[in-house]
Amino acid sequence: RRKLPDYNTIDDAVRLLRESKNIIVLTGAGISTSLGIPDFRSKDTGLYSKLEHLGLSDPQEVFDIHVFREDPSIFFSIAKDILPTEKKYSPTHGFIKLLQDKGKLLTNYTQNIDNIEANAGVLPENIVQCHGSFASATCVKCEHKVSGDAIFGEIKAGNVPECSACRQIIEADALKPQGLKRKRSSNGCQKDRKEFEDSSDEEDYEIPNPGVMKPDITFFGEDLPDEFGRRLIHHDRELVDLVIVIGTSLKVAPVAEVPGILPRDIPQIYISRTPVSHTGFDIDLLGDCDVVVSELCRRAGWDLKHHMIPVD
Ligand code: OAD
Ligand code: ZN
Repeated sequence: RRKLPDYNTIDDAVRLLRESKNIIVLTGAGISTSLGIPDFRSKDTGLYSKLEHLGLSDPQEVFDIHVFREDPSIFFSIAKDILPTEKKYSPTHGFIKLLQDKGKLLTNYTQNIDNIEANAGVLPENIVQCHGSFASATCVKCEHKVSGDAIFGEIKAGNVPECSACRQIIEADALKPQGLKRKRSSNGCQKDRKEFEDSSDEEDYEIPNPGVMKPDITFFGEDLPDEFGRRLIHHDRELVDLVIVIGTSLKVAPVAEVPGILPRDIPQIYISRTPVSHTGFDIDLLGDCDVVVSELCRRAGWDLKHHMIPVD
């Protein structure tokens, strides 16, 4: 992407903020690190630097759908550490809420699964959770859906949560005299239930397992929620007048492609600790994002604190 000539300095960024009416804010894990939630790729502090003990060839495999189908316990061994629990938010989340209050927020596309935007008061209709969330979970076998917190207890205990709907079917079936779970025995006769229970020859019987409940976060190898493409391409692309990307390394497609998909004449600002080389932003504001957005607000004459609602 070629840079636009008119936008270079922090004061250009402030002017853009004041003048724009339909801002896309694209966020990543960097906006939550000041709350003690690790990002993924920061050296030494990122989640991926702490997963060596899992013995994966690439730590990103903890979020790989094929690995999950093979062995869900790998994901659930770390899931308890990334559960959204606390009702708090950072000044950067407060900044997104401020843009909403000023009627300037078109959409916050967040890659985060911590649900913290909601704590700051960003309305659900203004958020696209590009990588899903822990708000719900789905059975990998029968697609039964439950509210996310229904499995938080199991996740916190380090267990692999199982599907209650699958279990009900299996249990109901087990009560039938000629249950589905029983295969023909090797001599071609159906064994009766008593014999089945006593049998040590377990290989003769297919005892179905309930499916695993997978939180509805988007794993590598899975599609993003439909709303992502629908809203971006068919709605926001026409309306957007400023793009602000905050706290993401832009390493994961398709979110990483968003800046390139938007019209070329729309200015783009990048706020993060680490610069990215592959995308040409007009204005790079490198540093701690809470500090950067606070300074932007100060220069714009906006009272960021006033827009930050207390949390319980
Ligand atoms: P990354 O960890 O890849 O990038 C976070 C970026 O934020 C890095 O550039 C950091 O330097 C920067 N950063 C960290 N703390 C900051 C702070 N306080 N102020 C400013 N910048 C800060 O995280 P994401 O880009 O969000 O997906 O990762 C994208 C996706 O990769 C995640 O959604 C996740 C992961 O695999 C899935 O799990 C599907
Ligand atoms: Zn199920």
